[in-house]
Amino acid sequence: MQHTTPAFDDFWTASELSALTRPQFVERMAAATAYESTSGSRATSGSGRIDPWARPGAPRPAEQLTGSFAEAVRARSSVRRFDDRPISDADLGRLLSVLSGPPSGRGYPSAGGLYPVRAIVLNFQADRAAGRLLQHDPDQHTLTELGGCPGWSELVEDLAGQDAETAPAAVIGLFADTDAMLAKYGERGGRFVLLEAGAMLQSLTLSAGELGLVGYPMGGAGDARMLHLAGLAGRSARFVINYAVGHPDRAG
Ligand SMILES: Cc1cc2nc3c(=O)[nH]c(=O)nc-3n(C[C@H](O)[C@H](O)[C@H](O)COP(=O)(O)O)c2cc1C
Repeated sequence: MQHTTPAFDDFWTASELSALTRPQFVERMAAATAYESTSGSRATSGSGRIDPWARPGAPRPAEQLTGSFAEAVRARSSVRRFDDRPISDADLGRLLSVLSGPPSGRGYPSAGGLYPVRAIVLNFQADRAAGRLLQHDPDQHTLTELGGCPGWSELVEDLAGQDAETAPAAVIGLFADTDAMLAKYGERGGRFVLLEAGAMLQSLTLSAGELGLVGYPMGGAGDARMLHLAGLAGRSARFVINYAVGHPDRAG
């Protein structure tokens, strides 16, 4: 079926990061951080902007969910400090199993049940000098080894991993084949893909917590670099987001 989504394609191109566009991205973030620290508020102070959430009614305290799921959600936070232990194949399988299904349903929803997003993992060795590249098949819950990948120090700049206080054991890239989603839903399908990747990211985060692993999303990787690393250059796939993961640094 012939389909066009020029606005989504433009949005995607405009939000791509590369060596060319990164300096502007970094400059913008620095300016926003400086503004937040001087204005004391992200949203309203000094800007003359009306807070969209301001309401005349009196707020009432709301009930809290309790139980193990609530605890897992509350324990979630971004951690950027890892020790040097690698992630075993067994733990990698367990970590990614929350993205898999059937036989049980997947742990996240997908518009039209199309499931266009999947994970490709850069799994580093203990010294982080080199790694293996593995593609996850969520239908079968299998991992296919695609070959080797460079070490963390070689990748850190292109992956915008400078926020990591120490090198993560693995980087899980979420990639999308958006063709079917855009064919079915047109421009709106672009939103659906991103929402799905966000739900997957949260599932991964909670799965990591359950395994005693920690991590954080890395939003600034170069698109072309990620596609190239994953062996997807020239295919109808897009890079969405990375999740850096590893064992927590026991020293704190
Ligand atoms: C889409 C997205 C991209 C992010 N990119 C980065 C990043 O590049 N570097 C980083 O250190 N944290 C990144 N984060 C993590 C946020 O900084 C973090 O979620 C936020 O500070 C709130 O902290 P918490 O996750 O501990 O609650 C990202 C989070 C999201 C959702």
